[in-house]
Amino acid sequence: MSNDFVMSTSSYRTELTASDDFELDAGEVAAAFCVQAATPLGRGAFGETWRLDLGDGSYTAAKVIMSPTYSRARLDREVEGLRRADSPHVVKLIDTASIDVGGATRAALVFEFVPGGDATTRLTPGAQVDPGDVVRFGSGIMAGLATLHSVDTVHRDIKPANIAVRNGDWGQPVLLDLGLARVLDRESITSYPALMGTVPFMAPEQLRQERARKAADIFAVGVVLHLMLAGTHPFYEGHDTLTFTEAISLINAGPASLPEHVSADLAALVRRFLLPDESERGSARRACRDLAHLEGADSATTSTDREQQGDDHER
Ligand SMILES: Nc1ncnc2c1ncn2[C@@H]1O[C@H](COP(=O)(O)OP(=O)(O)O)[C@@H](O)[C@H]1O
Ligand SMILES: [Mg+2]
Repeated sequence: MSNDFVMSTSSYRTELTASDDFELDAGEVAAAFCVQAATPLGRGAFGETWRLDLGDGSYTAAKVIMSPTYSRARLDREVEGLRRADSPHVVKLIDTASIDVGGATRAALVFEFVPGGDATTRLTPGAQVDPGDVVRFGSGIMAGLATLHSVDTVHRDIKPANIAVRNGDWGQPVLLDLGLARVLDRESITSYPALMGTVPFMAPEQLRQERARKAADIFAVGVVLHLMLAGTHPFYEGHDTLTFTEAISLINAGPASLPEHVSADLAALVRRFLLPDESERGSARRACRDLAHLEGADSATTSTDREQQGDDHER
């Protein structure tokens, strides 16, 4: 890929795809999963996500993999770590499946359905979220990431569209869109220009097409938290398009200042997550401790986690 590849920096505002772009038919999806109804939720490069209505007032979310080369066996290998990721802040994988739909046998991931919409539905460009809510949100995300990282899974695609806000409560974020992270990684940047919507959240090492490690997730959370606090992107505001080289220069120059009402401690923390050198961003676990301090002294996990230092440069 050429470094002159242009990215759209405002694409984080228009994440959700119109439902009529779906390839599969709702009735067919419902029949394949033996459920009452199926409603489209989102469509990415590798699959279509559908909400399944189980008919008893409960729902699941199923991601149907559209690539015919993606078998259930391959999927099972990919999601090994996720089965062990137990956190209220990581969407629960219920099962993998193999279904006949749209004229082919397709692999699928079935997740718990998190009610309340994803973070894009709660963010308005230019509008700011209360710093207290951002700290609670950040704590939850970092706790989810610490769990994922502890089972050696890197999310690689953290952005508002991939974070559900359970019951609309900023304190209950849930990481979504897991399982394909490994495949999506760098191959997708070159093969799927349609994925450019994710680029505004990419760490400089990802923009340089290196393999994304755990610290790339920390960077992406930093972008999300800055966006929430300021209502604007930390690096790309005022630019419609940028080459990857230009984007990296802007990241190296440092983020825009956060609004005055954001405390110096919180601003310093978000700035650390956004450092160009991945070894300086700290681990998700360390971020949990630091955010817990900002939340006040009411966190029992703070003292426990303090004993588990030494993981700050984990990959
Ligand atoms: N488990 C879930 N609970 C609630 N909403 C979900 C769930 N999974 C996905 N969604 C919604 O569907 C959208 C698309 O799903 P996602 O898994 O991110 O697939 P992709 O980005 O590949 O289309 C998400 O942005 C979110 O709004
Ligand atoms: Mg997604």
